[in-house]
Amino acid sequence: MHSTGTARGIRDFKGKRKEVAVRYDGKKTLVFCGLGPTVDADAANLRAAAANGIREALALGRKTVSLCVPTTPRRLAKAWPAALEGALLGAYRFRRYKTEKDDHALLSSLELVSDAATTGEVTRTHNICDAVCYARELVNDNACRVTPHYLAEQARTVARHAGMKIVVLKRKEIQTQKLGLLAAVGQGSPYPPRLVLMHYRGAPADKAVTAVVGKGITFDAGGANLKPSGHIETMRTDMAGAAVVLGLMKALGSLKPKVNIVGVFAAAHNAVDGRSYLPGDIYRSFSGKTVEIGNTDAEGRLILADAISYCIRKVKPARIIDLATLTGGILVALGEMAAGLFSNNEKLAAELLTAARKTNERLWRMPLYPEYAEAMKSDLADLRNTSTFKRGHASPGTGAAFIGQFLENTPWAHVDMAGVAYNQSKPRGEIPKFATGYGVRLLVECLG
Ligand code: BES
Ligand code: ZN
Ligand code: ZN
Repeated sequence: MHSTGTARGIRDFKGKRKEVAVRYDGKKTLVFCGLGPTVDADAANLRAAAANGIREALALGRKTVSLCVPTTPRRLAKAWPAALEGALLGAYRFRRYKTEKDDHALLSSLELVSDAATTGEVTRTHNICDAVCYARELVNDNACRVTPHYLAEQARTVARHAGMKIVVLKRKEIQTQKLGLLAAVGQGSPYPPRLVLMHYRGAPADKAVTAVVGKGITFDAGGANLKPSGHIETMRTDMAGAAVVLGLMKALGSLKPKVNIVGVFAAAHNAVDGRSYLPGDIYRSFSGKTVEIGNTDAEGRLILADAISYCIRKVKPARIIDLATLTGGILVALGEMAAGLFSNNEKLAAELLTAARKTNERLWRMPLYPEYAEAMKSDLADLRNTSTFKRGHASPGTGAAFIGQFLENTPWAHVDMAGVAYNQSKPRGEIPKFATGYGVRLLVECLG
C-alpha cells in the first residue's frame, strides 16, 4: 500500500480524502490512499486512509501488505501510529459464523514502512488494536453465547493474564448483597446476572482509583415493555459498554501504565418472561433509594445505578466514567457520528474530550439541567426510571440524570454510546460495519 502527500504522477488519482486507487506494477499491487490537501491532513486522515486502503487490498485478495507512511510533511511521518492503527482496525472482520473459509478477508502479514517508527510504539499500537478487536468480537457475537456468565468468564481470563484481582458476584450474592435493581433486571432470564469488578493497580503507592463502569445487557428485549420489530434486532449489542471495560482492562494488562483503574460491569439479560420485573413495581437499590419502574426497557440506568453504588461503597473511586448504550434518543440527536458526554466535572469532561479528538472517537458534550433530575422523582418511590416529560423528550439527559442520583458527589462522566457502538451502514475509515469497538482507544488515551 502506498500513501502519498502528492498525487502527482499517478494517472487519474487526485489524492482526495477517502479516495483509493489501485495500480499494478509488475507483480506488485499498488493501493494509493488519498489524504486530502496536505495542509490539513492529520493523524485522523492517515488512520482512515490506511483502513480504507487495507480493505481494498483484502478485497482484492492481497494478504501480504506493506504500509508506506509518508515521510513528508514530518507531521504526518510522526503520526505513523495512526496509520498502523487504521490498517489493523480496517483489517478486522467478524468471521465466526462464515462457513466458507473466506480467507480473502484475512490479512496474513503487514509490513510497516516508516522512517519514524519505533518497535516499542509498534507493540503498543498492536496491543491497543487487539483490545479494540476483542471488544468488537464480543459485541458482534450471539446473545445466546455472550451471556452474563460468559462476560464474567472473559473477565476472569483477562484478569488472570494480567495478574489483576477480580470479584464476580453471581445471582445469589447480587440478591443477598441487596443489589435490588440489578437483581430485578436480571430476574426474568435463565441466564443469571453478574456484577464484575477488575482491579488494575499500576501505581500501588497512589491511593486514587478511576472507576470505569460499563452497561452489560447481553440482550435487551425490553422486558414486559417489549421492543417492537425494527428495534430489537441489534439488541445483542447492548453490552457494548461492558465490552469497552473488558477491552480497556485487556489493553492495560499489556501496556502496564502507572495508573489505578477498577473496571466494573453489570451484566444481565433483559428478558420478556413470566418472571420478569414489571412496570409499576417498586424496587430498592443497593444505595437504599427506591425506584418505581415506569418502563422495563429503561433497564440500563438501573443496573448502572447499582454497579456504581456498589463500586463507591467498596472502592471509593476518585472519579467514575460510565459507558452505556443507554438511549435511542442519543442516536436521534447525534446519529452514528458521536457519543453523548454528560459530566458533573469540567476537568474530567475536558480530559475525555481531548482524548476523543486524538483518537477520533467523537464525543459531544450534552447538558445536565437540574430539571432533568427533577423529572426523575416519583410520587410513590424516591425515583422513577422514566421521566415525567412527554415521551422521548430529552431521554438521554434524563437517563443520565437518573444515574447522577447515585454518585455521592464523585466526579463523574457518562458516555451514551448507543449511536456509535454499532455501524449499520458501510465502513467509514477505521470504523467497520457492525460492532465498532468505540471507546477502548478513547479510554486508553485518556487513562493509560
Ligand atoms: N438499549 C436501549 C437503548 C438503545 C437504543 C441502544 C438503540 C442502542 C440502539 C435502552 O435500554 C432503551 O431501551 N432505552 C429506552 C429508554 C426509554 C424507555 C426511557 C429508549 O431510549 O427508548
Ligand atoms: Zn432497554
Ligand atoms: Zn438497553
